[in-house]
Amino acid sequence: MTEGDVVLRTLGALDLDRAARLHREAFVPMGERGWTRQDIAGLLASPGTTGFLVEAKAGDIGVAIARVAADEAELLTVAVSPRHRRQGAGRRLLAAVIEWAGRAGARTLFLEVGFDNPAARRLYQSLGFAEVGRRAAYYARVEGPPADAIVMRLTLKNEERDARE
Ligand SMILES: CC(C)(COP(=O)(O)OP(=O)(O)OC[C@H]1O[C@@H](n2cnc3c(N)ncnc32)[C@H](O)[C@@H]1OP(=O)(O)O)[C@@H](O)C(=O)NCCC(=O)NCCS
Repeated sequence: MTEGDVVLRTLGALDLDRAARLHREAFVPMGERGWTRQDIAGLLASPGTTGFLVEAKAGDIGVAIARVAADEAELLTVAVSPRHRRQGAGRRLLAAVIEWAGRAGARTLFLEVGFDNPAARRLYQSLGFAEVGRRAAYYARVEGPPADAIVMRLTLKNEERDARE
């Protein structure tokens, strides 16, 4: 994956199958249900929701979907293809979500992450997210007991608003 070849753009209505494939590739091996194109279409059609896709000529790399409601935003998912991990795509998707959410007026960005998901927890910590709670047995697993979720929060900057206040 060379930097010049890799593009991040808004997820569109024509990208639903590609986004569903990325989600499935990332989450099914973790014992979770992959989202269908209908699941993703439903989310993107709901108010305040957007997605981002990272792609290269050689194929799709990652996807993220987030929602803003009033002054709170939520990361709904982020998934990077197993073939393209540890090359910065996850960080790049999160940076796009953080910038978008701040511009859309959110003051805080929340997310839930599996207690048993050190890669994602490390990514979020490195971006400044703090752990603010825990939800017991939050993630159903196809096999084994459900996993706890950690709730994480990031305070967002909005230069125009912060200058006014
Ligand atoms: C979590 C995920 C999105 C990270 O994507 P990625 O493109 O590999 O992440 P990046 O390359 O941008 O990594 C950024 C930082 O995250 C941390 N990180 C990412 N993967 C890691 C791993 N396997 N182990 C430890 N830290 C990891 C590191 O701090 C890394 O920085 P570094 O490479 O400079 O050390 C990816 O592993 C994934 O799709 N996992 C399955 C789905 C998932 O768990 N989604 C999140 C659900 S809440």
